[in-house]
Amino acid sequence: MNKKLAVLTGATGGIGSAIAQQLAKAGWTLLLVGRNESMLSALRDELGPKHQFLVEDLRDEKAILAIASCAQQMGGADLLVNNAGVNQMLPFEHTPTDTIESQISINLIAPMRLTHSLLSQLKQQRGTVVNVGSAFGAIGYPMQSIYCASKFGLRGFSEALSRELDGEVQVKYFAPRATDTSINGDRIRQLNSALGNAMDKPQYVADEFMKLLGSTSRRRAVGFPEKLFARLNGVFPELVDSALIKQLKVIKAYFVTKETSL
Ligand SMILES: NC(=O)c1ccc[n+]([C@@H]2O[C@H](COP(=O)([O-])OP(=O)(O)OC[C@H]3O[C@@H](n4cnc5c(N)ncnc54)[C@H](OP(=O)(O)O)[C@@H]3O)[C@@H](O)[C@H]2O)c1
Repeated sequence: MNKKLAVLTGATGGIGSAIAQQLAKAGWTLLLVGRNESMLSALRDELGPKHQFLVEDLRDEKAILAIASCAQQMGGADLLVNNAGVNQMLPFEHTPTDTIESQISINLIAPMRLTHSLLSQLKQQRGTVVNVGSAFGAIGYPMQSIYCASKFGLRGFSEALSRELDGEVQVKYFAPRATDTSINGDRIRQLNSALGNAMDKPQYVADEFMKLLGSTSRRRAVGFPEKLFARLNGVFPELVDSALIKQLKVIKAYFVTKETSL
């Protein structure tokens, strides 16, 4: 276990840093990826000198090559955790084109590219990929159309690849629900509280992540009733249409403001 290398994107984020702590505790060597050098450096210092970090923007094709090359130099990746992600809750009509492209690029294209670049290493080590999706990778939610598109895509990618690479590389999909991290701005927090939606602590989400990693399961969703709702949406989407459309007035009250309806 001591020699095993995990490549973790979004390592400086709320969920990413909690996963980094858990993986390091379990004996993994980490290649931490993010954009904030001082945060990455502080995290590496906290975890110990055997770990390394790379400052990269995942929208850049060169970043993908740099990560694969660094992982190779560290002995080859046994685990890839595609955790980096962004979310901007906005009415679709008022979402700028560059925000659409950026969200799809970070949440969906980068995990695909990184998996592609690391695949020969992962195959060699009979390794694992965990793609961090969301409850919104199975439930289409108002004001989250781009985020949902990216996470539905990531779930489809994970499921197809998991079946394609059966016996070679384990591909898993992990779906947290709302979690207390900086991805959620004030308005999302206020909306969740108005709707009575629970918010998990990142440490709890990291515990759930470790359960998925240590199991033979291909997928794990966090939190009740969200995981039931996600399954229900797959079988009876009309029921979920009605439930969410009933909430639309409340949702719009938080997200259709003067600035978003300009
Ligand atoms: N928190 C939730 O409610 C929730 C719920 C379900 C699923 N998730 C998923 O969980 C994952 C982690 O989210 P989080 O809650 O921990 O969010 P977070 O605290 O905002 O962390 C996001 C991470 O992604 C990195 N990142 C963003 N854009 C990047 C880019 N262009 N290139 C490289 N790295 C980039 C950030 O690095 P920098 O800060 O350096 O940019 C940061 O490390 C995401 O995939 C998210 O969709 C979160």
